[in-house]
Amino acid sequence: MDQVTAIERACFNNPWSRSLFVEEMCLPMSMDLVALTLGQVAGFCCVWVVGARAKVQNLAVHPAFQRRGLGRYLLLQALSQARDQGAVRAALEVRTGNLAALSLYYTLGFCLEGRRPGYYYPEGEDALVLGRDL
Ligand SMILES: CC(C)(COP(=O)(O)OP(=O)(O)OC[C@H]1O[C@@H](n2cnc3c(N)ncnc32)[C@H](O)[C@@H]1OP(=O)(O)O)[C@@H](O)C(=O)NCCC(=O)NCCS
Repeated sequence: MDQVTAIERACFNNPWSRSLFVEEMCLPMSMDLVALTLGQVAGFCCVWVVGARAKVQNLAVHPAFQRRGLGRYLLLQALSQARDQGAVRAALEVRTGNLAALSLYYTLGFCLEGRRPGYYYPEGEDALVLGRDL
C-alpha cells in the first residue's frame, strides 16, 4: 500500500489517500491489480465491475516505469478479468489534457461517449467519458 500511494502521489495533483485505497479494496465490486517489477509495485489499476458494466476507477504507472507497456498490460488484464466476471461494456473518465492516457485508451479501442464539464476539482478541467465493448 505504501508503494501504491507513492505512485499515486507521483502521478496525480489530487491523489487518492491511503484510506481511500483501503476503502476501495474493501468494496465488493472493486477489482484491484498491481504490476510488480523486481518485487516492487510499478503500477496499479482499480476497476469496478457491477453487473454487465466495468468502470475504470484508477490507473497509474510509476514515472520511472512509464512507456514500457505496463499501463497497456494492466488495463488489458483488468478488462479481461472484468469480462470474465460478466461485464460486456467498460467506461472511464479522463482529463481532456491527459494526452498520454487518452492515447492509451484510444489505441485500446475506447471511443468518446461524452464530456463532464468542470468534473475535476479544484482545477475545473472537463472529463471526457470513454467507453468500449468487452
Ligand atoms: C497513462 C499511463 C497509465 C500510461 O502508462 P504507461 O505504462 O506509460 O503506458 P504504456 O507504456 O503501456 O503505453 C501504451 C500506449 O499509451 C500511449 N502513451 C503512453 N504514454 C504516452 C505519452 N507520454 N505520450 C503519448 N502517448 C503515450 C501510447 O499510445 C502507448 O503506446 P506506444 O508506446 O506503443 O506508443 C501513465 O502515463 C500514467 O501513469 N500517467 C499518470 C497517471 C494517469 O494519468 N493515469 C490515467 C488517469 S485517467
